[in-house]
Amino acid sequence: MLAMTIESREHVRRYFDGLGDAEWHRLAGDVRGRVSLEVHRRLLAGLVRPGDRVLEVGAGPGRFTFELAALGATVVVTDLSPVQLALNEERLRGSEAEASVERWEVLDVCDTGRYADGEFDLVLAFGGPLSYAFEQAGDALRGLFRVTRPGGLVAGSVMSLLGTWRTFLPGVVKLAERAGEDANDLVLRTGDLRHMGVEGGHVCRMFRSADLAALIRGAGGEVVALSASNWASLGDPDVLAALEADPGRWARFLEHEVAACREPGAVDGGTHILFAARHL
Ligand SMILES: C[S@@+](CC[C@H](N)C(=O)[O-])C[C@H]1O[C@@H](n2cnc3c(N)ncnc32)[C@H](O)[C@@H]1O
Repeated sequence: MLAMTIESREHVRRYFDGLGDAEWHRLAGDVRGRVSLEVHRRLLAGLVRPGDRVLEVGAGPGRFTFELAALGATVVVTDLSPVQLALNEERLRGSEAEASVERWEVLDVCDTGRYADGEFDLVLAFGGPLSYAFEQAGDALRGLFRVTRPGGLVAGSVMSLLGTWRTFLPGVVKLAERAGEDANDLVLRTGDLRHMGVEGGHVCRMFRSADLAALIRGAGGEVVALSASNWASLGDPDVLAALEADPGRWARFLEHEVAACREPGAVDGGTHILFAARHL
């Protein structure tokens, strides 16, 4: 039996509070993370115009707050976790990017009622806030479109079901041995990791790209971009380390990798799916 959604979000808040500064290192500590950062950065660079007013949801410790500032946006920085939000403010204060932040505030992606219709040019929810909204992902997304001006964009990334299964197969098989094959069937059908049992660990809802696209359409948006994160860089870490050590080859690899991630045949193949959608 699944826990209620609100309890699940409370569980997620405690998880990210407890994670503390480790979240900052997720996109820097290994090659896969660094490639993921690059895939996210390049998508974002194509979406933001100088002067845009942005609502950043689930901002975490601030990797993309710095990016938004560098792209010339003004940002309302938010997160469900007061600890992550405080870490974000700590990193931004005293930096050049500080002047681009309008304010920091705690926000659940499912509860955007405090903002006016269409007050933002762009809403950004990178790193899975919609994956942590569980059954309320559709309502949450509708709320994100409501606060975005017509013609503006909602962008984000969610956890990918098929790519996560493939990338972490040994761990998935172990989990299934513990939780049972019926639970594993349910996870593969619904993407909801809570079927494996939570026990203080990480839970989220993973998506198939077709389900994500349907969710976006149902919430009043039109998909303008989809991308995996990552593709070839989910392969052999030793091979990748050798490539990364050679700046010329690495630059070429990244070009190929970012392009491959955006191919329809690859979109479900990474651990995350990135999207950008226009508010119709
Ligand atoms: C994996 S981190 C991503 C941080 C940052 N956006 C990035 O991509 O590097 C996910 C963040 O989403 C936040 N989060 C989780 N559930 C949320 C919710 N329901 N509403 C808003 N933020 C949420 C977490 O507290 C955490 O800071």
